Amino acid sequence: MCNDLRRIIRFFAVVVLVLNACRADHKAPLSRRIGLGEKLFYSTILSDDGSVSCATCHQAGRAFSDGLQRSAGLGGRLAQRNAPGLFNLERRAPYLSEGGVRTLEEVVIAPLHDSVEMGSNIGRVVYRLWQDTLWLHHWLSVWDSLPSPHTVTKCLADYLRTLKSESSRADRYYRGNTTLLSAQELAGARIFTRPDVGCARCHHGPDLTDNQFHNVGVAPQSKDQGRYRLSFEPGDFGRFKTPSLRNLRFTAPFMHDGSLPTLAEVIDHYTHPGHPFSSQDEISNPIVLNPEEKKCLEAFLFIFTDSDFVEVRRRRERLLGLAP
Ligand code: HEC
Ligand code: HEC
Repeated sequence: MCNDLRRIIRFFAVVVLVLNACRADHKAPLSRRIGLGEKLFYSTILSDDGSVSCATCHQAGRAFSDGLQRSAGLGGRLAQRNAPGLFNLERRAPYLSEGGVRTLEEVVIAPLHDSVEMGSNIGRVVYRLWQDTLWLHHWLSVWDSLPSPHTVTKCLADYLRTLKSESSRADRYYRGNTTLLSAQELAGARIFTRPDVGCARCHHGPDLTDNQFHNVGVAPQSKDQGRYRLSFEPGDFGRFKTPSLRNLRFTAPFMHDGSLPTLAEVIDHYTHPGHPFSSQDEISNPIVLNPEEKKCLEAFLFIFTDSDFVEVRRRRERLLGLAP
């Protein structure tokens, strides 16, 4: 009897959720949606066993990366890749290293469903929110409808869009303050754009990325197929999305597999004459730089680090008691 009752209640719950998902929902104001999205981002209700939140792998103090070579998800199991920092995401589509996802609303579903990262699914998350009185209370104070896949993904995406990093020393310099950069950093800027070095070929624009896919010879023997996983085009094997070069002070280790622990090692990777570049590599001629030039390049890359962004977000975490 008890089981029958539970089944009936569950049936009606599903009917209400489905109907609810179809309703128009533009009533919730943006600022309130962002607040709910932030709560969701920091909540372990999103993961199967209640142990992992988005913030487990995307930590404010590390510009929303996690400092690990590969992220640790449920039970400490390793995710496939290194967690990137999260900022200026509106300019970063398509998302993920192979670029298979076009919108932020869609990309937030990927970690929920990944068996290693959160091991849940959007239906289960909605159902749990629906069963939690406190969450329902928060929800209904913002939306005039119960949680649904649409509104959950919308809130998370609205929150992600607020993570804006645009007050590094480089930003201030390019806005017109010419006194902020040292001679070494300015020399680094010239090296970065030199045609024989060519970093700016792929790393350009406000976030120092072309948002395209390239093979720069990282882990050529790796099982990670990169963009090939999406396109099945042989030329895409080992191509990954060009990452932003902002906030490098906070986002080590580097590359899709986190295989390079420091920025100096990344620069060595691009210049190492003995590096086993693959045949499809787009940097088949190693770049020649002397130790002094490498130092200048490194100093230049660090000026895109936005400590204000990280500090403001950390303070907010502490103030609201959000930190995991
Ligand atoms: C277990 C660790 C882990 C958890 C939990 C996790 N992520 Fe991630 N996240 C990653 C990794 C690793 C990547 C890189 C994947 C790739 O490149 O294919 C990533 C990529 C992303 C990206 C794409 C960034 C870009 O520039 O393409 C976004 C956005 C994102 N995560 C948001 C979230 C949100 C929102 C949550 C919670 C719903 C979340 N993540 C939970 C590890 C995690
Ligand atoms: C042909 C395009 C291309 C060129 C030229 C290029 N890069 Fe990259 N860069 C990439 C791609 C693609 C990745 C990501 C590779 C991966 O994840 O395996 C990357 C990764 C990086 C990273 C790691 C960022 C992170 O968060 O993991 C740094 C730092 C970097 N590049 C700096 C440079 C410098 C300095 C130069 C010039 C010496 C340069 N790049 C030249 C495409 C390029």
